[in-house]
Amino acid sequence: MNRLRIAVLPGDGIGPEIMREALKILQAVERRNAVRFELTESPFGAGAYFDHGHPFPELTRAVCDRADAILKGPVGLAHDQARKIPVDMQPERGAVLPLRARYNTYANIRPVVLPQALAHFSPLKAEVIGEGIDFVLVRELVGGLYFGEKIVGVDTQGRRYVEETLRYDEEQIRRVLVKAFELARQRKRIVHNIHKSNILKSSVLWNDIVDEVAPAYPDVRVVQMLVDAAATHMCLNPRQFDVMVMENMFGDILSDQGGGVIGSLGLMPSACLGDGKAYYEPSHGSAPDIAGRNIANPYSMIGSVAMMLEYSFGMAAEAHNIWLALQAVFVDGFSTPDLARPGATVTIIGTDVFGDKVVEKLDLQGRSP
Ligand code: NAD
Ligand code: IPM
Ligand code: MN
Repeated sequence: MNRLRIAVLPGDGIGPEIMREALKILQAVERRNAVRFELTESPFGAGAYFDHGHPFPELTRAVCDRADAILKGPVGLAHDQARKIPVDMQPERGAVLPLRARYNTYANIRPVVLPQALAHFSPLKAEVIGEGIDFVLVRELVGGLYFGEKIVGVDTQGRRYVEETLRYDEEQIRRVLVKAFELARQRKRIVHNIHKSNILKSSVLWNDIVDEVAPAYPDVRVVQMLVDAAATHMCLNPRQFDVMVMENMFGDILSDQGGGVIGSLGLMPSACLGDGKAYYEPSHGSAPDIAGRNIANPYSMIGSVAMMLEYSFGMAAEAHNIWLALQAVFVDGFSTPDLARPGATVTIIGTDVFGDKVVEKLDLQGRSP
């Protein structure tokens, strides 16, 4: 029996609700496979700050250090509540970035997938969606503006100012590009390199490294695209994309646009990978506007479980079964309210019922080899 340790960080807002459904899926996976998951739930986020004085407490760090993988829910307070926590202790700065830095998870994999049968979820026209949308953003996750030096001060004329530094070295760029090219090799072999080299020198260096890395992948086609144009292309012709690779901040913004293109941020799981331990989280936030009402879409959290099985535990076949089970619930006509579109006939179900239905679908499928 394979025993795997998972640090479970439910987080804030809708985090605990969608994590509950993700854990149901892990139990179903245990019933179907010779594997046991040892789950250790630990405080992380705004709740952890209020209860333990830190959004990423020492005890949680120890649990994460011991774990084979980390499953994390979203964190954060509503905008008007955020000031209840000092700026550097707010969970985005005080917990999420330290988590990324601690395990050096430099490549954030964010799939944007909408099968043709579910075209009605998207605000885009059916003819734009065609045979379905299926691309993946590879976002650099531990560099750039997020991690650069920050100076806050007052100038000689008494004006408040701020400086934030965007720094990348060539090794930081190379390793995430390699992840993107390797991923493209398992897919349609197209990499869109997203940059802003007409303005940013960081993009000039980034593109130099693309030119150095690409010759090792002669079977992969590289398409150059400026980030502003890419935002438009994602809406007008999302099907041209296979793998998109970009620096941290560009990836933050374009991945949320990915959620918009397919209909909801609730459809956006992600994997945060480095050379060692990985962690898995939805791309979206804690959705304070819908928290506590059993209406959040748990797809993003369950999809993050599927990514964990594939990338951390070598269980790609079972991960595939989870994706099929998720899609099957939608194809049967059920969805959480975020995906209801005017004119489309869907039966609205709650977060918990969605999770139960995914388990039912999974149980109907053959076990993984
Ligand atoms: P958000 O992603 O939480 O929500 C944006 C919109 O998407 C909301 O209308 C929300 O209801 C909806 N939404 C998001 N996930 C959904 C789901 N699973 N099902 C249905 N609808 C869903 O963004 P926000 O409101 O700008 O931020 C809220 C908080 O989350 C902030 O504190 C922010 O900093 C934080 N945040 C955390 C993470 C993280 O932990 N990785 C990511 C993004 C934002
Ligand atoms: C995301 C989030 C995070 C980011 C925040 C919470 C630090 O928006 O994972 O996309 O900006 O990277
Ligand atoms: Mn984001």
